[in-house]
Amino acid sequence: MSKIAIIGQGYVGLTISAFAAEHFDVVGFDSNQKVVDQLNLGISHIEGVESTVLTKWINAGRYTATTLGSDIRDCEIVVIAVPTPLNTERKPDLRFIDAACKTIAQNFSSPVLVINESTSFPGTLRTFIKPTIEKNSAVQIEHLYSISPERVDPGRTDFNQKNTPRLYSGLTPEASAVTKDFYSKFCDNLIEVSSPEVAEAAKLFENTFRQVNIALVNEFAQISHALGISVYETLDAANTKPYGFMKFTPSAGVGGHCIPVDPTYLAAVAEEHGAPATFIRLANEVNLEMSEYIVRRVAADNGGNLQGKSVLVVGVAYKPNIADVRETAAELVIQHLRSQGAVVSWHDDVVSTWKGESSASLGGADIAVVVTKHDSVDEKKILASAPYVFDTTGNVKGAKGL
Ligand SMILES: NC(=O)c1ccc[n+]([C@@H]2O[C@H](COP(=O)([O-])OP(=O)(O)OC[C@H]3O[C@@H](n4cnc5c(N)ncnc54)[C@H](O)[C@@H]3O)[C@@H](O)[C@H]2O)c1
Repeated sequence: MSKIAIIGQGYVGLTISAFAAEHFDVVGFDSNQKVVDQLNLGISHIEGVESTVLTKWINAGRYTATTLGSDIRDCEIVVIAVPTPLNTERKPDLRFIDAACKTIAQNFSSPVLVINESTSFPGTLRTFIKPTIEKNSAVQIEHLYSISPERVDPGRTDFNQKNTPRLYSGLTPEASAVTKDFYSKFCDNLIEVSSPEVAEAAKLFENTFRQVNIALVNEFAQISHALGISVYETLDAANTKPYGFMKFTPSAGVGGHCIPVDPTYLAAVAEEHGAPATFIRLANEVNLEMSEYIVRRVAADNGGNLQGKSVLVVGVAYKPNIADVRETAAELVIQHLRSQGAVVSWHDDVVSTWKGESSASLGGADIAVVVTKHDSVDEKKILASAPYVFDTTGNVKGAKGL
């Protein structure tokens, strides 16, 4: 059986590992020793990857996690699945990809296929990954290089690695062919595009499409409120059109590792090439300002002043039914509430602990603001948790809301 390495064992890397282990011996390489130790005990830290599945592959000798570069030396394929965040200037930060490239460079002495699944700007594979690996390799090796951007939606059960169509493209026809062969073992629908840049750009555009439409609906929620009509009823009405409309729903903003970040990768590369990124920049602003708008609405309904009021934020994960708090809109909501003098606690038993604080019980506050509604949280209990409840999700009937 072929042996493959997956660099980064987070949401993306562990999910692929679990699928690939059916067909390959998988080495999950991660720089975080704690994560690796847990994984080797069969404990998954990722929604959608059951610990029982992990344990099954460990017991079958098909999965092992490691922090040692030497453990990936005899692999034939290496998949990069590391974070691609923004730096403090909100510009693309490729330092994790850079480190992954160095791991590859230092541990292979014969050619392998390097596939990048991390989201990044068009040109990353050709102008960053390949040269970085080559520059850091002791000897000249002709690796194969390809891109196959990841589309996994954590927590989603209807679409997974098998039935979500996957884009791919190699730097050479041979790289494309081996990439196709690899993914076809566990993905039903593979779509080859003409260059890695097209695949990289498509991934960014998919998330930019969501970001811009979410911003539009968030702005529309504010317009609807000013007009005294229900945003939800209006959206449902528009959604009766059988073509040319796609329904997005308003929220406290966007969160997670993708929507708040990926469009900025596209904007950065656009601006570098002298092309406008007006919509992307504006959408980012509108989404970021939603938290402030919500706090303004809550304050207006409560005598215009939140000083000393106890406010419970319900749901701090960036979306329902997962524990991921990266870039969560709840953080900005809490910041704005605190800057108004409110005494803020939060309830989220899926997240449980966050920023040194623990999930509070659901009740006993002057005000509750629902940012994320997990299925496990009872609607009636939310309504009973405070005399005033503001729901940003549209899921708590009887509460005030957008
Ligand atoms: N989470 C998603 O829903 C999703 C969906 C599609 C694409 N992506 C993209 O996939 C990539 C990975 O995202 P994620 O959500 O899996 O991130 P994550 O933070 O969940 O996991 C990344 C893992 O990589 C490890 N890591 C960091 N640097 C490393 C290195 N040099 N060597 C080995 N391990 C290293 C970290 O310890 C962590 O465990 C990003 O580019 C992201 O934009 C994410």
